[in-house]
Amino acid sequence: MAVRVGVLGATGAVGQRLIQLLDPHPDFEIAALTASEDSAGKSYRQAAKWRVEGPIPDDVADTTVSATDPDEVPDDVDLLFSSLPSSVGAEVEPAFCEAGYVMSSNSSNARMADDVPLVIPEVNADHLDLLEVQRDERGWDGAMVKNPNCSTITFVPTLAALAEYGLESVHVATLQAVSGAGYDGVSSMEIIDNAIPYIGSEEDKLETESRKLLGEFDGAELSHNGVEVAASCNRIPTIDGHLENVWVETEAELSPEDAAEAMREYPSLELRSSPDQLIHVFDEPDRPQPRLDRTLGDGMAIAAGGLRESSFGLQYNCLAHNTIRGAAGASVLNGELLLENGYL
Ligand SMILES: NC(=O)c1ccc[n+]([C@@H]2O[C@H](COP(=O)([O-])OP(=O)(O)OC[C@H]3O[C@@H](n4cnc5c(N)ncnc54)[C@H](OP(=O)(O)O)[C@@H]3O)[C@@H](O)[C@H]2O)c1
Repeated sequence: MAVRVGVLGATGAVGQRLIQLLDPHPDFEIAALTASEDSAGKSYRQAAKWRVEGPIPDDVADTTVSATDPDEVPDDVDLLFSSLPSSVGAEVEPAFCEAGYVMSSNSSNARMADDVPLVIPEVNADHLDLLEVQRDERGWDGAMVKNPNCSTITFVPTLAALAEYGLESVHVATLQAVSGAGYDGVSSMEIIDNAIPYIGSEEDKLETESRKLLGEFDGAELSHNGVEVAASCNRIPTIDGHLENVWVETEAELSPEDAAEAMREYPSLELRSSPDQLIHVFDEPDRPQPRLDRTLGDGMAIAAGGLRESSFGLQYNCLAHNTIRGAAGASVLNGELLLENGYL
């Protein structure tokens, strides 16, 4: 029987992607949609300005959107996917978990909390066991797992593939698509014919979340990885797909050929939304590119290319679809991991 799920922030950019990925889904059935008070009481068709490819699924279109309040979500919903603005998530997500709901959330609030697992299933699925600590400390029947920021998700799997060489320092420069800021995030007058070398709080997220993801959980506490990470984030006029330039220094000698092999061999998982090949490594020096490569693995794969030696160690480029692999798909994958690990 399918697990009944709800989507919090269902009318937004990530909420729409969540609906696209969840309807249909072999294990999950959408049973609740929430948004702000402005949308509550309207049909989803009326409340959401639908902007993803394809039509709104029929059964979702006529569903009534509720306010984002635990009392408004049916008790037989077991799993919630949250794509709320982080200020709203900080206020309401704990109330849902306290009321017994298990939550797979995209919002940045609480990502760095000591008892909240921040998970990319292919990288650190074992951190999910931190939920036992969380439940003990907070007295929740529910639970909260987070996925990282979309730009963090793009480069961390490539670092995980290289970890056996001993990561010493990482420099990363991003070229991020406008959809990462939500529909109303960047005006066309600002971004067309332009690039903006500032995205508020983004650099800190890449630097801190990557160390948490690559850290070790000993069954009681999580220690963050000591690798130095420095990030520089830029918004550019692409619609979807974050491209990143990465420089990695390792303890052991690492040639571009060995790095390519380690990335190609880095395993995917057998979750429903896992891509067959997690990291695609291009030999062509001008790939990956957002428009050409963001839909690899149905938008769930990471693309890498341009591996070469530099005076700062190994250099390469990587790319992921920011609203699928970097947001909605990441939450769905964490939901599938929660199901596989008996949390639902
Ligand atoms: N876009 C990306 O690529 C991306 C990637 C990773 C993470 N994220 C994170 O995902 C979250 C959502 O981003 P987004 O781009 O989808 O934002 P968005 O398009 O602005 O959507 C926000 C959603 O939250 C709802 N909402 C707003 N204020 C609310 C309130 N006071 N109470 C209840 N619901 C409220 C909105 O409902 P109404 O329609 O009724 O206003 C809408 O459904 C953010 O935390 C963002 O940082 C986004």
